[in-house]
Amino acid sequence: MLKGRSILLGITGSVAAYKSIDLIKRLKQEGASVKVIMTGASQRFITPLSIELAAGDKIYTDMFEAPLSHISLPAGADLFIIAPASADIIGKYANGIADDMLSTTLLAYSGKVIIAPAMNWRMYENPIFRKNLNYLASLGIKAVGPDRGSLACGEEGVGRMADIEKIMESIITSLTVQDLAGEQVLVTAGPTREYIDPIRYITNRSSGKMGYALAAIAKRRGAEVTLISGPVSVIPPDGVDVVTVGSAREMRTAVMEALPMSSIFIMSAAVADFMPVDVRDSKIEKKERLQLNLVKTRDILEEVGALKSKPFTVGFAAETGHRLDRARKKLLGKDMDMIVFNDVSRKNAGFDVDTNEVVILDRGEEKKLPLMSKKDVAVAIFDRILELKENRL
Ligand code: CTP
Repeated sequence: MLKGRSILLGITGSVAAYKSIDLIKRLKQEGASVKVIMTGASQRFITPLSIELAAGDKIYTDMFEAPLSHISLPAGADLFIIAPASADIIGKYANGIADDMLSTTLLAYSGKVIIAPAMNWRMYENPIFRKNLNYLASLGIKAVGPDRGSLACGEEGVGRMADIEKIMESIITSLTVQDLAGEQVLVTAGPTREYIDPIRYITNRSSGKMGYALAAIAKRRGAEVTLISGPVSVIPPDGVDVVTVGSAREMRTAVMEALPMSSIFIMSAAVADFMPVDVRDSKIEKKERLQLNLVKTRDILEEVGALKSKPFTVGFAAETGHRLDRARKKLLGKDMDMIVFNDVSRKNAGFDVDTNEVVILDRGEEKKLPLMSKKDVAVAIFDRILELKENRL
């Protein structure tokens, strides 16, 4: 996601400084090149050697060691992240103070800046600090976190540096073209549960990973996102409006409620096709044989397809075998704009894995994608949606 991007990382004096090692690793994993500047105070918490080893490159600590590096470093950077950002660096930055390598480089940088504050909750609540933070925000400098939790001093409060993944998401979002800005994306994800009695239910193998990846990518590209989710264990992306549901019936109600506000609707949930005719009030006792009487659930997508006015509608077709013909039949039958076919009998595709291998079908074309991460599949799906939406105009 950050291939070819050049990131400047400033580390300041906070107990959270050791977490910068993970941040450096994640940035490199995503393909970014990272240049690190450490303040004097940060070196009391973590050694420059540890950071240098993680970065695999020379790090910068002293502005007099490599004169003019405070000018040359910012020149090639796509983004400057300060993590952890102490009250000190935030105060200096807001007031234009440049008295060490980091503050001087920051002042010489005119690109995107993100800060990840970390401090004691009293310092965070101090009105002087707040004034500095608000002033930076008014200049477009983004703050990620801090989070609530136990602090280094042993107290509870808001002041913990944001999670590394949360920081990564805000870096990636800042460097992503906001081509879905203005779109209201509605995504469904996960399985549904159809109860037989108070204890037992019928469900399927869907993990929700594909739908959650779609929601995360839509958010990253600037859309307002609502995610209607069946029971899953995936953590929802930040900033997404999540509606949790249990049964197919509940999912239908939630979809119909959110649909009028949506411009793009993606039905990636694995809705149960059958539900018990009647749900027992008490636990069914053990016996030699049990016959369940099931009835078809309402097809949500079919219902949406039949509406006169509807958003750009995308469905999924999970098939066993290369049944593109079945997928195309569903596309036309449920009057969708696009359907994403995947053969769930293939290794590393479909249920409960992080990768997928799909074919995107629309009214005219078929696009076969190679095996890739579900996030990359989500990127390809939105690329195609935007292409088709533009052609419609
Ligand atoms: N779908 C739906 N409501 C249902 C069942 C399915 O909205 N009650 C949606 C799924 O979310 C998916 C699409 O319809 O986007 C296709 O689902 P799939 O299970 O592949 O196909 P079905 O139409 O249910 O047909 P079959 O089970 O016979 O393959």
